[in-house]
Amino acid sequence: MTGNSIGKIFRVTTFGESHGKSLGCIIDGVPPGMKISEKDLRIDLDRRRPSENEDGISRRNEPDRVEILSGIFNGFTTGNPIGIILNNCDKRSQDYDNIREIFRPGHADYTYQKKYGVRDHRGGGRSSARETAMWVAAGSIAKKYLRQNLGITIQAYLSQVGNMFIDFKEPSCLSRKNFFCPDSSKILELKKLFSHLKKIGDSVGSKVTVFAKHMFPGLGEPVFHKLNADISYAMMNINGVKAVEIGDGFNVVQMNGSYHRDEIRKGGTFRTNHSGGILGGITTGQDVVVHIAFKPSSSIKVPCTSINHDGEEVTISVSGRHDVCIGIRAVPVVEAMLAIVLIDHFLMHKGRCMR
Ligand SMILES: Cc1cc2nc3c(=O)[nH]c(=O)nc-3n(C[C@H](O)[C@H](O)[C@H](O)COP(=O)(O)O)c2cc1C
Repeated sequence: MTGNSIGKIFRVTTFGESHGKSLGCIIDGVPPGMKISEKDLRIDLDRRRPSENEDGISRRNEPDRVEILSGIFNGFTTGNPIGIILNNCDKRSQDYDNIREIFRPGHADYTYQKKYGVRDHRGGGRSSARETAMWVAAGSIAKKYLRQNLGITIQAYLSQVGNMFIDFKEPSCLSRKNFFCPDSSKILELKKLFSHLKKIGDSVGSKVTVFAKHMFPGLGEPVFHKLNADISYAMMNINGVKAVEIGDGFNVVQMNGSYHRDEIRKGGTFRTNHSGGILGGITTGQDVVVHIAFKPSSSIKVPCTSINHDGEEVTISVSGRHDVCIGIRAVPVVEAMLAIVLIDHFLMHKGRCMR
């Protein structure tokens, strides 16, 4: 168990480091007969990509053009492993020279060094969120399958930044340019906040909400592979995630049972969806709703104390190209992780229940 794979039937295995030659993945278990091209993957990769000129987002200028190496014949999946590769073009590894021997607080530098005794300090190496590009590529295939074969659609958005709560009001304004904020009245405020934080060299925490629509009842496994457990596992693996909530999440603490239980009506409809569309680890047929909390990025200019490899205290201020608010670029990552879990569960469900 080296932790580089996720999924049981739809299984994604990744490799690569932030400043290595390339990132790559092998996706096994993709059903045969799906029309897939690099163009399909590009849409979500472009939504995740760093940007040269957008506030709140890292300025690493990567084209993120993937190449599909295997598993496709005449434009269709063959059922064999799909290999994908993505070259790292805009590395600027010299930005990290000053932290070769210093552990950045809030990053995995200290823990990787303690575990392996050696680490690639450039951009966080294997612990870098650049890794999530591969998840997004794999997630694009999963999303397409779910949409075309089951009608399931997945949508994530920025639902909170600091103390600002954002309601899902205008799905039409969801784009990276608008910070994946579904309320146009909040975009200017966010822009001001992000440029202010950039100026003072600080960052802010955020929440991303994701829902899967047009679900059918019965997806999920009982006991140790509950759908809610597998979703939480996948989301908790995303860099910077500190909490995952299904449905009403931590708010259930303040509720009474008479309010929280979702009453069932004639024909199998529910009056509310406090449970987030999952009961006993299995979908009810309602939307699956998940909230994911991202910590404020740790790579900031505001100086703080850390230690070097000799254990001596040093002052560190991290410059370079970083995200002021992780939640923005995490939106397509969250969608990808939900899609990977749902397709994996669907293939397990089909194998066991044949319907
Ligand atoms: C899409 C994405 C972009 C990220 N960008 C940054 C960043 O620019 N600066 C930063 O300090 N952390 C960033 N992070 C978070 C770090 O990768 C993460 O905090 C670090 O790897 C340590 O892991 P942990 O926070 O999960 O413990 C990003 C995370 C994601 C998902």
